[in-house]
This record gives sequence, structure tokens and C-alpha cells, in this order.
Amino acid sequence: MNKKQYEELKEKIHFHNYRYHVLDTPLISDAEYDKLMNELKRLEADHQDWISPDSPSQRAGAAPLEKFEKVRHPAPILSLANAFGAEDARAWRERVIKIDERVEKAKFVVEPKIDGLSIVLHYENGLFVQGATRGDGEVGEDITANLRTIKTIPLKIPVNSEQSSVISIPKKLVIRGEAYLPIKEFDELNRKLEEAGEKTYLNPRNTAAGSLRQLDPTLTASRPLTILVYQIIHSEGGKLPSSQWETLEYLKALGFPVSDVAKRFNNLDSAVAYTETWNTGRDQLPYEADGMVIKIDDLNLANELGFVGKDPRSAIAFKFPAREVTTTLQEIRVNVGRTGVLTPYAVLEPVEIGGVIVERATLHNFDFIEEKDIRAGDRVLVKRAGEVIPYVIGPVVDARTGKEKKFKPPTTCPTCDQAVEHFEGEVAWYCVNAACPAQLVRNVEHFVSRGAMDIGGLGIKIVEQLIESGLVKDVADLFTLKKEALLKLDGFADKKAENLLNGLEQAKAQSLKRLLGALGIHGVGEVMAGDLSKVFSDLDALSKASADELQKIDGVGPNIAESIVDWFGRAANQKILKKLKAAKVWPHAEIKEKKGGAFNDLTFVITGTLPAFSRDDAKAFIEDHGGKVTDSVSKKTSYLLLGVEPGSKFEKAKSLGVKIISEDELKKLAKK
Ligand code: IVH
Repeated sequence: MNKKQYEELKEKIHFHNYRYHVLDTPLISDAEYDKLMNELKRLEADHQDWISPDSPSQRAGAAPLEKFEKVRHPAPILSLANAFGAEDARAWRERVIKIDERVEKAKFVVEPKIDGLSIVLHYENGLFVQGATRGDGEVGEDITANLRTIKTIPLKIPVNSEQSSVISIPKKLVIRGEAYLPIKEFDELNRKLEEAGEKTYLNPRNTAAGSLRQLDPTLTASRPLTILVYQIIHSEGGKLPSSQWETLEYLKALGFPVSDVAKRFNNLDSAVAYTETWNTGRDQLPYEADGMVIKIDDLNLANELGFVGKDPRSAIAFKFPAREVTTTLQEIRVNVGRTGVLTPYAVLEPVEIGGVIVERATLHNFDFIEEKDIRAGDRVLVKRAGEVIPYVIGPVVDARTGKEKKFKPPTTCPTCDQAVEHFEGEVAWYCVNAACPAQLVRNVEHFVSRGAMDIGGLGIKIVEQLIESGLVKDVADLFTLKKEALLKLDGFADKKAENLLNGLEQAKAQSLKRLLGALGIHGVGEVMAGDLSKVFSDLDALSKASADELQKIDGVGPNIAESIVDWFGRAANQKILKKLKAAKVWPHAEIKEKKGGAFNDLTFVITGTLPAFSRDDAKAFIEDHGGKVTDSVSKKTSYLLLGVEPGSKFEKAKSLGVKIISEDELKKLAKK
């Protein structure tokens, strides 16, 4: 393939990335996309001089920075004055009419006001060259490497090269937008953090800002951030639209994500009416919006109007009523999750927030309560935003009467009364009793779920029914359920009972990996279960392993080793194992005899793109010679196999003194 074909391949990938991430209407499958990316990486391995910052391969995240450089913005990055209702908006219009009577006939554009992080993107000859935070409006921080990882930011414009002939691209173009984390992604991230016992984030805005204003681009790359753009800050050479509405259309044609909620109106009254519909509709937006922005459409007029302080006269932020209220925190209670994590929550004096009565709000974790010094009886500030679970922001200290009570985290599980445990390096406290009734429902739910034992016909309702009726006291009881007993339950007829029993019968054939992952041992997810089932042939073998033995397995640190030993050491769990065995739910794994080879007992980590091998090839090669491949570099790593454009693993290997080898050296080593 020659350079020209390589450039075409890059364009093609950019285009499909755009179809997928910006338009949400992909034209090719994920597998086809991966194939294109692999082809690109192979080419770049052979022609390193071809690689430029706009290559799709550059989104993975570069090596961490020491600090952010400063960037002076080409023009001030302005803020907005607020309006708190239709009256304020009309008064604003009257004010500007006095300055320029053309406003009388002006059109208005309404856009959502996204509660994210303001960003400034610089393009030169169509290439994304720099990205910055707003900072103080004059000077921001250079966060280019982080922004490059956001898949909806075009690395080259126009994204659709067919536009090149019909659209003018200035030599320099600086645009402004908002980076944010969609609410769904925020909830998902917090759910994962909570399950892992880690600190959760307070709100989407902080998470987005925190992900962008930190020095490791690979962390940014792991966060599903996205952007919406709305303004051209500066340009050199090229013809630009003269209205806000056309600006949005122009930016869209270049391949930028632009709000699909934005609309243009012939007069302010219609603009305000539209804005007000979003007062109630805001929960439908996939991001947090704290209002709508109303802008004068004519950009010449807008510029001439000038600004007051940092606020342009030509636009106004029409704020939604705040979704923060104060109320009394009556009691702090503790919830027990599936993995046994204890999560404190507030029982509130019921209060309306944006049309919804809120009676409970999360308190995140025990550290949060301590840090904020939140006490039972306090007046607290509570926020509800979009679909995010309402959360307590903090106490109103001035409103204290002295009767408030400090909270002491429980030392035993609020449901089963067993002592709670803490794992080093995590904020969470756990109830580790698998038979704890609070956990039982969620435990069984997880056990039967698709990713675990995959037992069809066993939804949450039935799980609850089985537990409530006393038929199921632990996951093993599922396999001794009898038809007669099921028929006595509400809503069970012949067919339903048979379906369930069939599903259970089939589940007996599931692999050890699935059963192991289904048991819900802290730290043993799908991947870890797979790794363990390569070493241990059944649950008996695993239950006999010591913490030391377990730690020899890659990916198993002292915490997971201890948690596995602890799980098998509990009498309740031993009972479950005994019952599973008796019910013949006892899968065996075939342990592959290690092929004798040059790499016996050696562990490899791969980083960057290799010259000849694909990742899978390299892995197979190493394993065929008796070695192992893991994901992250640690002191246990024997070699780092280094390719082109390595990630942060390279730095880590260097700092730990891990030996670094090339693909050629690997092949030589294999022959020894
Ligand atoms: S226009 C002169 N439009 O809101 C232009 N701002 O409170 C001034 N924001 O700092 C900004 N969405 O970060 C504008 N569609 C939108 C916006 C928006 C969010 C943010 C922006 C600004 C803040 C002002």
C-alpha cells in the first residue's frame, strides 16, 4: 500500500468513526471497523514516518504529561448573563433594543446549556492541532492529548471529504464547545466503581472536568466523554457564516457534533415558549443541562452589541429552576448491595425537586459522610439532576441546633448482623456473608444472569418469590427445586415450572469459568474466573489453594487472593459447595499441560503496534513457548514486548526496571 492509499484509509476510518459516534448510524459492523484499524496499525508499524497526529490510531491516549502548558486564547472566551424566566428574557430584549433598534426584528436561536466543561479547539489547515480549557477566559490549559482521545472530536475536518469541494475551510479555525459525560455513562461508571469498592463521582460535570484536567490521556480515553460545539472563536482565511444558525449548520457539515435540540425563531416570544418546554423536558436530554441559551441569530449585530464585563449582550442563559433544595436529613441508613458493599443513604423529609418528590438520597460512602461532617437531623442541600440518583451535597452548618447526631459507620451488617470487612485500598465496607438475606436476592439474580449461569426464565420477580417463600436460601437451593413446590407458588402452572426446571437442568452443563464468576466472590469477575479456571480443575482444587499459591497467578494481588481464601473458608459457602456437588453442578476444567518451552514461568506484557505480529499472534507465540501474557506491567513482569507508539506501559516498565525487548529479540529468545 502506498502513502496515498494510507491517507485514504485514514479518511475512511474517520468517516466511519463519525457515522458511529456522532451520527449514531454506523454503516459497517464493529468487526469491519476493527479490521480497518488493524490494517492502519500494521501500515503504521512499517512506515513510522507516515504517522501524523490526525491518525485514528492516536486516540488511544499518549504517555502521561508532567504538567499542562498554558494557552492564550485568540479571543476572549466569554460567559453569559442569566435570565430566570420569561420576564427576565423580555427585559433583556428591551435593554438591547435601546442599544440597537435592529434587535426589534432580530431572529433568535435557542440551544441547550450543557453543564460540562468549556473547551476551545484549534484547527490548522483542517487538522486538530490544539485544545484548551477555558481557564480565566484569556488563558487556558493545553489539554490537547486528552481531547484527542474523545471520539466525537474530529482530528481532521471536514470529516466527510466529499464536503471539501463545497465548503470553505479557513486556514485557521478556532471553535468552542462543551465537553461532557452523558448521564447514562456517568451512572454506569459509578455503578462499576461502587461494585469495585472504589470512590464514586459526585456528578457528571465533576467527572468530565476531572477526566480532562488530569495528566494521563489513557485515563481520559477510558471515559466515554463527548462534546457539542456552538461557536467560532476565531478564523483566518476562508468565508464564514454570518448567523448563529448557519454557524451550527456549518460546524455540523464539517463533522462536529452539534445539538439537535437547537432551533431558530422569528421572535423572542416563540423562542421563550420553546425554551420553557425544556423546563419539564430536560430529563429527556442525555446530558445535564442547567438551562437553555437564547442567542441573537445575526452575528454582525451580535458583535456590534459588544459585552458587559464578560457577558456578551447578544445572548442570555435562560436558567432552569435549580434542582437543589434544602431539607432535613431524618436518618442515615445503610443499604447492602449484591457484592456486599454497604452504601449509606439519607432518609429525607420528603421534598419536591423539579416536579419529583424525593425521600431518599445517596450519601456515596462512609468517607464522604465523615469528610462533609453530615449528621442525622442536619438541614442538608440535596440535588437531583436528570436521571442521576439524587445526592446529598452537604450540610447547612449554620442551621444546626446542636441536636444533630454524628454518624458511626456500622461494624456489623444491618441485615444479617455479621461483622463487616474492609479491603485495603478501597473505600467500601463489605458484608461478606453470602447467605445475608439482603444480598441473597441480588446474589441469586447475578448467579442466574446471562453473563453468569445464564438460566432462562428466572427474572427478578421469580427470584424474589423463591426467596420469600423460603424455597431458596442460597444459590445451590435452585438445583433441588421440585415441581410440586413450585406449583404452590403464585402464578406457577405446569408449563412455567417445567421451563424453569429445564433451564436449571441445562445450567448444570455450564463451564467452571461461568460457575466461578456466578458465585460473586469479591474480585472474581468474568476475566478472573477465566484465569482461575485455567489453573484449577474444579472448585475443590481452588478451595484448597493458599493465598501464596493464588498470588502466583497473574492478575491476582494480595487482596483478591485473600478474598478468595476468605470466601472458601466460610462455613456457609462450604455448605453451598457441598450442595452444588450433590446436585451435580460441578464442572471440571481441562487444564492445559504447559508446553515445555523457552518462556516457561515468564510473563510478558505487550505495548504498541508490533512490526509483524498482530496482538493475538504475539500472544499465541508466547503461550506456545510456555509463557504468559498479561495486561499490566508489575514487578512480576519478566519482559515488556515493545512496539511502535507504546502506551503508558512503556514508562511503567522503565520505572520498574522491567526488561524491554523487540519482536525480533523475542523470536531470538524463543530459540534459546
Ligand atoms: S454561549 C458568547 N452556548 O455556559 C458565547 N454557552 O454560563 C457565550 N455553555 O461558559 C457562551 N452550553 O461554557 C453558550 N450552547 C451554549 C452553551 C454554553 C453550555 C456554557 C459555556 C459558558 C457557560 C455560561
